[in-house]
Amino acid sequence: MNADAQKKAAAEAAIAHLPRNGVIGVGTGSTVNYFIDALAPLRDQIPAAVSSSEASTERLKRIGITVEDLNSVAEIKVYVDGADEINKYLQMIKGGGGALTREKIIAAVSKQFICIADQSKLVGTLGEFPLPVEVIPMARSYVARQLVKLGGRPVYREGVVTDNGNVILDVHGLRIDEPLTLEEKLNNIVGVVTNGLFAHRAADLLLLGGPEGVQEMR
Ligand code: 5RP
Repeated sequence: MNADAQKKAAAEAAIAHLPRNGVIGVGTGSTVNYFIDALAPLRDQIPAAVSSSEASTERLKRIGITVEDLNSVAEIKVYVDGADEINKYLQMIKGGGGALTREKIIAAVSKQFICIADQSKLVGTLGEFPLPVEVIPMARSYVARQLVKLGGRPVYREGVVTDNGNVILDVHGLRIDEPLTLEEKLNNIVGVVTNGLFAHRAADLLLLGGPEGVQEMR
């Protein structure tokens, strides 16, 4: 199985973990697109979804699933999303698709976070993938200087404006031995909206597609 087939298998495995008749949270990215495709035959059993991006919202609506504003939803039982990197503690780097802020909000609200990914995403130490940081535009240079002080090499994601109207710095060269501490330090930089480290709110279940099939990790 190549990476795409592994993503598809992981995405389809998530269907068995969905609640009966509950609102679900839906992430963003190519793996999640497979998940949305797999939701189509179940549309009548899903009262509504909360989506982490305009792109996923559009895809969900196209298959006939109602998308609700998070503020009008009392509870999300399960949130399904991909990751750019994930370690054995199910801590992740996310935001390769630029949707990290809404993803972190929905993850915080949801009772269970199911990460769907292909095998290449499982790493020993987070940080090989550049860490996305969403920043208020006027603070971009200031935040970049603070990121350099933390040992990173921030690169402005040119031409990208997030769904929230902000910009993204991708931080290269970080070896993230202490994800919990780094997530806190990044949150403390004025001008940072969200950083793509999901350490405090890690996944609860990883469905990892590999050559032999889908493995569950908790
Ligand atoms: C988007 C994300 C995605 O989950 C992450 O980039 C993985 O994407 P893909 O499933 O395309 O590999 O965090 O902001």
